[in-house]
Amino acid sequence: MRILFIGDIVGQPGRRIVKESLPGLVEEYSPDLILANGENAAGGFGITPSLVEELLDLGIAVLTSGNHIWDKKELLPYLTDRVDSRLLRPANYPAGVPGRGRTVGQTRGGIGYAVMNLQGRTFMQPIECPFRAADALLEQIPAEVKIRIVDMHAEATSEKIALGWYLDGRVTGVIGTHTHIPTADEAVLPQGTAYITDVGMSGPYDSVIGIEKQCVIQKFLTQLPGRFEVARGDVRLCGVLIETDTATGRALSIQRIVHK
Ligand SMILES: [Fe+2]
Repeated sequence: MRILFIGDIVGQPGRRIVKESLPGLVEEYSPDLILANGENAAGGFGITPSLVEELLDLGIAVLTSGNHIWDKKELLPYLTDRVDSRLLRPANYPAGVPGRGRTVGQTRGGIGYAVMNLQGRTFMQPIECPFRAADALLEQIPAEVKIRIVDMHAEATSEKIALGWYLDGRVTGVIGTHTHIPTADEAVLPQGTAYITDVGMSGPYDSVIGIEKQCVIQKFLTQLPGRFEVARGDVRLCGVLIETDTATGRALSIQRIVHK
């Protein structure tokens, strides 16, 4: 079984590159399951219900997210209402927060899969422990569901790598998101978990992590609040393709994919 995970879709340029590239990627790699992080799809900050529908309609089975999932107020009731959970928020937010951090589904070919979404808390909001949250989530996944993918949305490289080792052999893949710059450390860990610290964003790379360079430089220079706008140049789709042993859920390989 092949799983295509598409990195953080940033604004209109990110949505466009995903829409334009996906048919070719499907043709080339024949993924059985397509996942994507969509938390920056609406102008770089958050996602709206209509953009959720738009992205799911492209063939993405589940959208994961992170700290920006709360940015668009109109999404909050939508998170609550969606019992089929094709849009996840990090599982380790405090109890009672809208939405869900895990989902279980089936591919068109009838293969069961689980997707889990966690968020780091180093240099981020001090939410619940993602490691303990991962343990709790895994207990809720039916034993027969072997394909288990975790989106670890985190700032600190160390926290992501530590979670990768912590879950090695217990999940099919731990995919790092949030920092928007692809890392070159993709590997299958010894017990069969595919890992990458950051899959990279799908959006404009002529930017500072997706935002117009000048806005961000000004902010660093002055420390004043400013208006951040999504950049336009050098748009790339970044993702990883994970090949797995369907019977065991162990990853066989992970490869980075960049599409311009
Ligand atoms: Fe984020």
